[in-house]
Amino acid sequence: MGFHVLQIPFIINLVLLIVIALTPTLAASPPNPIAKPNCIHRCGNVSIPFPFGTTEHCYQSSSFLITCNQTFNPPKAFLQNTSIEITDISLDGQLRVLQFVAHDCYNRNRTRVSYSDPWISLPIYLTVNNTANKFTIVGCDTYGFVSGRRLNRNYQTGCTAMCDAKEDLGAGSCTGLGCCQTSIPKEVWRVELTLKSYENYSYVWGFNNCSYGFLVEESAFTFSPENLTNLKNVERLPMVVDWAIGNGTCEEAQMNSSSYACKSLNSKCYKPDNGYGYRCSCPEGYQGNPYLIDGCQDIDECQDPSLNKCKKRCVNTPGGFNCLCPKGYHGDGRKDGQGCIRGESLVFKLVAG
Ligand SMILES: *[C@@H]1O[C@H](CO)[C@@H](O)[C@H](O)[C@H]1NC(C)=O
Ligand SMILES: *[C@@H]1O[C@H](CO)[C@@H](O)[C@H](O)[C@H]1NC(C)=O
Ligand SMILES: *[C@@H]1O[C@H](CO)[C@@H](O)[C@H](O)[C@H]1NC(C)=O
Ligand SMILES: *[C@@H]1O[C@H](CO)[C@@H](O)[C@H](O)[C@H]1NC(C)=O
Ligand SMILES: *[C@@H]1O[C@H](CO)[C@@H](O)[C@H](O)[C@H]1NC(C)=O
Ligand SMILES: *[C@@H]1O[C@H](CO)[C@@H](O)[C@H](O)[C@H]1NC(C)=O
Ligand SMILES: *[C@@H]1O[C@H](CO)[C@@H](O)[C@H](O)[C@H]1NC(C)=O
Ligand SMILES: *[C@@H]1O[C@H](CO)[C@@H](O)[C@H](O)[C@H]1NC(C)=O
Ligand SMILES: *[C@@H]1O[C@H](CO)[C@@H](O)[C@H](O)[C@H]1NC(C)=O
Ligand SMILES: *[C@@H]1O[C@H](CO)[C@@H](O)[C@H](O)[C@H]1NC(C)=O
Repeated sequence: MGFHVLQIPFIINLVLLIVIALTPTLAASPPNPIAKPNCIHRCGNVSIPFPFGTTEHCYQSSSFLITCNQTFNPPKAFLQNTSIEITDISLDGQLRVLQFVAHDCYNRNRTRVSYSDPWISLPIYLTVNNTANKFTIVGCDTYGFVSGRRLNRNYQTGCTAMCDAKEDLGAGSCTGLGCCQTSIPKEVWRVELTLKSYENYSYVWGFNNCSYGFLVEESAFTFSPENLTNLKNVERLPMVVDWAIGNGTCEEAQMNSSSYACKSLNSKCYKPDNGYGYRCSCPEGYQGNPYLIDGCQDIDECQDPSLNKCKKRCVNTPGGFNCLCPKGYHGDGRKDGQGCIRGESLVFKLVAG
């Protein structure tokens, strides 16, 4: 008798093990689509979710055109026909791009020997993220500007970096000695970098003969005194760009259902902190691409150990999950709640009685 009872769970476990072993391959075959049908959804290391795309029927508007250059290995993604390389596209509304470093170098005769003042212009719906990036200068006899266009007007800001000796410089300290940083305003779509020197490096040439300027993702750059010399080998640094889908508000966009970009059922519309237009997001409990019909897919919280809050049994529901307790137990079944308590609930007993 006992032998029989034990055997059933063993077979169930075996079946479960086989199912678990097969799950990754099964799940990998129909991937949750992020791009339109028959559209390239990857370029080298960069995944390309709609509204971005590499051909006309694959992107939402030309602002989201990606050129995948196959002559690189792995292939590299560029914005439109520009030299702005994209290393990451997030459906939360950010792009990570590589932006050129400006430099200004002098020889011992106080003569400028090389100079570059790079610029970028972003297409409509794209703006430089004003909280994640900092305009930064490295040098000991230098000041510089970041200027360009925001909305339909000009802007300019900048800072000064000086020092008298290499000993003045401190690792991690970008406060004016050999390194300075400043924020940029919101809604910037054109960026021009300019470097200037006060004394043509006359007094610092012995230890500093070049200065550098860049708009960089703040977390990707920590100043070190060696950067006075080792930045000469760095051509580009990461910068965060924000994108939005349209040029109107959510309310305006919702009035025209054929052009409204939040296509997935239950997707939500919100206004970004920077730039114009609107963005879409999946509702809580869903993930995927809100810009595609059926793009938002239910998250199976029960399968994810970090989301499964159930003490015993977890049952997935659209947008959420329920916890169940075995027969003879009561409670909310949650690890962060009552859990499952042995015995019928008092209410149940009274009703049953
Ligand atoms: C691309 O991804 C692979 C694996 O994730 C990584 O090893 C490689 O460094 C990446 N290449 C670039 C250019 O980012
Ligand atoms: C790809 O990159 C190479 C090397 O930079 C360049 O010569 C070529 O024109 C690019 N191709 C396209 C399609 O942009
Ligand atoms: C990119 O294309 C636009 C129009 O399609 C054109 O005006 C611009 O000059 C091009 N830029 C480059 C770098 O080829
Ligand atoms: C600047 O100094 C470095 C060494 O500190 C030297 O290698 C480089 O040639 C100098 N650059 C110029 C333009 O003189
Ligand atoms: C600096 O100037 C002197 C004389 O004016 C010249 O002989 C020398 O070649 C110059 N050095 C450089 C690096 O230009
Ligand atoms: C720096 O160099 C420029 C051009 O070579 C010159 O006109 C200027 O007077 C120099 N400034 C100083 C402070 O030496
Ligand atoms: C700055 O210098 C440090 C220390 O040498 C180095 O690790 C870092 O990569 C440099 N930063 C950049 C952007 O090159
Ligand atoms: C913004 O949208 C309105 C109407 O939707 C359109 O008339 C206008 O041209 C758009 N502006 C830009 C800059 O695309
Ligand atoms: C709604 O959007 C579509 C597609 O962009 C456009 O053709 C149509 O004219 C718009 N309708 C109205 C009433 O604005
Ligand atoms: C700017 O970037 C930060 C960090 O990536 C992000 O949290 C923030 O939402 C971005 N701002 C906008 C307006 O997208």
